[in-house]
Amino acid sequence: MTATALQELAQSLHNCQRCKLAKLGRTQVVFGVGNPHASIMFVGEAPGFNEDQKGEPFVGAAGKLLNDLLTSAGLSREQIYIANVIKCRPPNNRDPEPDEVETCKPFLMQQIQTIRPKLVCTLGNWATQTLLERKVGITKVKAQAFYMKDFVIFPLLHPAAALHQGNLLDTLKEDFKKLKEFLDKHSKPAEPTTT
Ligand code: URA
Repeated sequence: MTATALQELAQSLHNCQRCKLAKLGRTQVVFGVGNPHASIMFVGEAPGFNEDQKGEPFVGAAGKLLNDLLTSAGLSREQIYIANVIKCRPPNNRDPEPDEVETCKPFLMQQIQTIRPKLVCTLGNWATQTLLERKVGITKVKAQAFYMKDFVIFPLLHPAAALHQGNLLDTLKEDFKKLKEFLDKHSKPAEPTTT
């Protein structure tokens, strides 16, 4: 059911022309990939060159780093679902523009409403600000849990930023340890009650 709903949504966005990115050189819409029943979802910014070519999020260098970080937190790509705030590659990987985010955000929200993850890890400023709905720098909010109505947001630095700045890589590794601690704490089975 969930998988079908996601497929239908993906189909409805096939060859999407709703914003200017369709005419600015994107190869294809990069909808999202992963387990439709995931309890953890990761949300990035926008497809880059490799993602645009392959049609899947996080398949380039940042994706390889993300895979390693996921492993360090005891997670695998098969367990999670990954999507981006905007589904088409901006020219030369420039930042998304407000109208592009506004046009595409409803589809991210539909993905979240369909998958119903308990935890949404936002990667970088764009995803974090879009889902927290406030303009706050990622370094102020990273590796903390924000309890929303239907899910928890756990912001993290964007892996691409860590590829370019070595000191951020250590921070990101530390933050994935905090994510693991958070997951270990919250998926702990309830203590048996003694009568
Ligand atoms: N960066 C992102 O934000 N998303 C991708 O899919 C790849 C790189």
